[in-house]
Amino acid sequence: MSEFHKILSNWYKQNKRDLPWRLNKVPYYVWISEIILQQTRVDQGTDYFLRFIERFPTIDSLANSSENEVLKMWQGLGYYSRARNIHFAAQQIMNNFNGKFPVTYPEIRSLKGVGDYTAAAVASISFGLPYAAVDGNVYRVLSRIYGIATPTDSSKGKKEFSELAMQLLDKQNPGSYNEAVMEFGALQCTPRKPDCSVCPFEQQCVAFNRSEITKLPVKTNKIKIRHRFFNYLYLKHEKTIILEQRLENDIWQNLYQLPLIESLKALTLEELIVHEKFHSLFKTESITIESASNEILHLLSHQKLHVRFIEISLSKSEINKNWIKIAPELLHEYPIPKLIDNFLMEKNRNKME
Ligand code: ADE
Repeated sequence: MSEFHKILSNWYKQNKRDLPWRLNKVPYYVWISEIILQQTRVDQGTDYFLRFIERFPTIDSLANSSENEVLKMWQGLGYYSRARNIHFAAQQIMNNFNGKFPVTYPEIRSLKGVGDYTAAAVASISFGLPYAAVDGNVYRVLSRIYGIATPTDSSKGKKEFSELAMQLLDKQNPGSYNEAVMEFGALQCTPRKPDCSVCPFEQQCVAFNRSEITKLPVKTNKIKIRHRFFNYLYLKHEKTIILEQRLENDIWQNLYQLPLIESLKALTLEELIVHEKFHSLFKTESITIESASNEILHLLSHQKLHVRFIEISLSKSEINKNWIKIAPELLHEYPIPKLIDNFLMEKNRNKME
């Protein structure tokens, strides 16, 4: 066993967390957990994982549910394409693999939403196949211990790190090796303020010895944040809530939202009521604008949303054909972005008091 493996596996023996998908390595569970953990921390992700597999205990039950039900279980986790892809992939497994989780790397990689990382994680953890899983944790651990400053989001960096990860992989125990590196990154070699005084790699770690922990890993940070301005209309009409489904290929695709007017900049109420879309929605309606919330900022990975809720009373019953009128008691059946759900919950709570 190499020095690297010895140190890592000793550390893992002492620090491994008992997580529900680690009990028996069922591929379905490992797949769902790895998709959740791509963008979510383990403590929040564990609750969602447990609720998800309780609601959809088998691949069959997941494939036979509606996309709405799957999105509803995902509500609050964000990056909803993960849930849409999981639902689609469950149907791929039913149709193309006879309902059995695929057992080879290329087949696992062929599932919708499964990239190199997830395929390697499931193939190694559930089937003992020799593939190195390289996620953000692994980039951080390897860049620091080996002192590699190639940007992790460049194609050169991706190649360099995955080659090193493949060389280091413990081919006898690829699953526990992959989990150990990720666990080490999550618990010990943390992004900010790692406690290097208790790190078993202190002697070998190039970044520590050069006092470069805070400089590694390097990212080119090419991400440009797009600012968007969302004016949500909370339309009050016959004690119902009016929603629309968000169908565009965009954030929150297929979830439900309050009717939206997106504008190119922040609008005053005066500007909003002369906005073309506002005008076209309420041409024949007589409406009263009751209030407008302050701007709420909602940060996504590549976008900053500037959101406002405008409360409007409608007097006529004729509503737009894309709108759905629902009783407030049925709101819990609809997958709704957390930001809007919080607003509606607050409104309903105030009404009850
Ligand atoms: N982060 C993503 N997948 C993980 C895993 N299997 N173990 C620990 N942290 C993770």
